[in-house]
Amino acid sequence: MTPLGLYVHWPFCARICPYCDFNVYRERGVDAELWSSALIADLEHWASRIKQRPLTSIYFGGGTPSLAPVSVIADVIAAADRLFGLDDTVEITLEANPNDADENRLREIASAGVNRLSLGVQSFDDEALHFLGRDHDAASARRAIALTQEIFKASTFDLIYGRPRQSDDDWYTELSEALAFEPAHLSLYQLTIEPGTAFAAQVANSRWTPADDDRQARHYEIAQETTNAAGLGAYEISNHARPGSESRHNLIYWRYQDYIGIGPGAHGRMTVGAARSATKALDRPDNYLRQIQEIGNGAEATETLDEEAQLIERLSMGLRLAEGIPLYADDVFYREETRAARLRQLVGDGFLSLDCGTLRATATGRPVLNRLIYELIG
Ligand SMILES: C[S@@+](CC[C@H](N)C(=O)[O-])C[C@H]1O[C@@H](n2cnc3c(N)ncnc32)[C@H](O)[C@@H]1O
Ligand code: SF4
Repeated sequence: MTPLGLYVHWPFCARICPYCDFNVYRERGVDAELWSSALIADLEHWASRIKQRPLTSIYFGGGTPSLAPVSVIADVIAAADRLFGLDDTVEITLEANPNDADENRLREIASAGVNRLSLGVQSFDDEALHFLGRDHDAASARRAIALTQEIFKASTFDLIYGRPRQSDDDWYTELSEALAFEPAHLSLYQLTIEPGTAFAAQVANSRWTPADDDRQARHYEIAQETTNAAGLGAYEISNHARPGSESRHNLIYWRYQDYIGIGPGAHGRMTVGAARSATKALDRPDNYLRQIQEIGNGAEATETLDEEAQLIERLSMGLRLAEGIPLYADDVFYREETRAARLRQLVGDGFLSLDCGTLRATATGRPVLNRLIYELIG
């Protein structure tokens, strides 16, 4: 069955981390009933527009969905089941901050129907957690992982590496600690200084200097070696899993399949009739709620994607995956000879491989993927 995912964006956080540029707002109390009915109305709107089939995944992302009232999580899952049906093997993930991961709350979240928890651990070093502006310490992160593994059928956690003052040895130690939990899935993100964040301002004011490219590259290599040795190789640039434990929901994005997006700022990609559409909900929670009350949906824009736009998205997403993407001789990609020539060049230089109709980024190409995609399609 062709997968169909649902992304639900919960935009509130207890505080805003200095590196984060997601669509997030400080939580100042939410009305659970108002949010349940708004999210359900938005979902009903999309259900009336796309071809019905059971959902294969639901992903509560954020922001901090572990702060959301559990009734909202349960209501959205029940509405998704009523409107689309849930596949027998549906994966339902929720992102959680370690501080919210007390046993009662985790059990409530599991009872609401969530079967996969994604913990934002970020580091096992208290000083690094302080630097990252996190409100949890390493001990609570360790407790949260242990509890999560006990309560949920599937789980994963995130670490951020390539931090200033993080030595190669520090990174080895943190990875060993992560792997000692024998996770089936792990996300390892290189610290990115996003424009407009507090970190970007601190760097601009020379308060500290980001890790240089060499150290970032070494830390990336260390991550590959260590996780491969533990049987947790990268199936995507930043995501590692034992075979069979890959995130089904995130695979939908990278394989460029259909997903509905609800909640402030959520994106979606859907096949509506014969066309592929990109949808985006209003960012600000108050605007989102108001528009749903007024016209029954939270969409800021819905755009039909032409072949060229789809090609760019398909390549940018698919080349992140170790499995690569299908690219056959009659693909729209080959309609421009200059592109075909650039592809041959990048294959010749060892950045890409093309075997039996599958295009992949090689180990040399993966660390410079954004540049490759730019060269390929630019
Ligand atoms: C939406 S956030 C996570 C959910 C949760 N609120 C949390 O922070 O734990 C998803 C993940 O993206 C990563 N992330 C966010 N901004 C980043 C940045 N600038 N550089 C590297 N990783 C980042 C973090 O590891 C984070 O856990
Ligand atoms: S990293 Fe997570 S907790 Fe921090 S501001 Fe971003 S979404 Fe919120």
